[in-house]
Amino acid sequence: MSKRLAGKVAVVTGGSKGLGQAFAKRLAEDGADVAIAATSLATETEEIVKATGQRAIAQICDVTDPESVAEFAAVVQAQLGKCDILVNNAGIYPFHAFDEMSFEDWRKVLAVSLDGTFLMCKAFIPGMKERQFGRIINLTSTANWLVIPNLAHYNAAKMGVIGLTRALATEMGEFGITVNAVAPGLVRTGTTEAGPQLHMFDPIAQMQAIKRTAVPDEIVGAVSFLACQDAALITGQTLAIDGGLVRL
Ligand SMILES: NC(=O)c1ccc[n+]([C@@H]2O[C@H](COP(=O)([O-])OP(=O)(O)OC[C@H]3O[C@@H](n4cnc5c(N)ncnc54)[C@H](O)[C@@H]3O)[C@@H](O)[C@H]2O)c1
Repeated sequence: MSKRLAGKVAVVTGGSKGLGQAFAKRLAEDGADVAIAATSLATETEEIVKATGQRAIAQICDVTDPESVAEFAAVVQAQLGKCDILVNNAGIYPFHAFDEMSFEDWRKVLAVSLDGTFLMCKAFIPGMKERQFGRIINLTSTANWLVIPNLAHYNAAKMGVIGLTRALATEMGEFGITVNAVAPGLVRTGTTEAGPQLHMFDPIAQMQAIKRTAVPDEIVGAVSFLACQDAALITGQTLAIDGGLVRL
């Protein structure tokens, strides 16, 4: 049986670890070649993708920097020929009380999630339009709907991602491009296990309908689905993958 993403090329930002690495692996298992952009070279993810038999490239790329994104897009074009599936996963979530949050702190969090998504969309949408096919999947978070202090920048950024998702979906529908967001709840990654989230795993799990903390492999199936042909009529949506923590 042919794999559902056979012949497709996916770009995953922030794919060196955590959720991004899991997305890259699953999209490759489903038949896509994968290009990974991250602030450190995603050699491990590149090997994981290649082990599935798919082509992979890993590039250091700062999604907040227009030149860096343009260089990355040129490498993707030269080595993989196109981008059909764009997963805007790069994101940071440092905790800062609002009173102690500098403008720089604020700008940095918005830059990675929002500027990064904007720049990657600008880089890859023209090719998607030419081919009349595209799947854009943006990472937001159900943290937006919870009362977790010290995340004003993150909540603003991730709500912005939902706004951008809806706006782009409206403009891109006629070109065969769908644009959706996925909103994980709290997921165990190296970063959440090393941060203040460590003490939130159990309390948040208790608030969910399904009372356990997710791991990245439980988030990937939804992204693969939104990337495939079966999801051709789904666009502008935000899908919570959070064990029933919030209902969007
Ligand atoms: N882990 C969770 O509980 C959770 C929940 C909801 C949403 N999310 C979102 O999912 C995404 C991934 O989270 P994670 O926990 O896997 O993160 P992570 O810290 O494990 O990985 C972040 C990735 O983003 C990359 N990155 C950071 N800044 C970048 C930049 N300027 N340019 C390019 N790449 C950059 C890093 O290199 C890394 O590969 C984020 O957008 C996050 O907000 C995570």
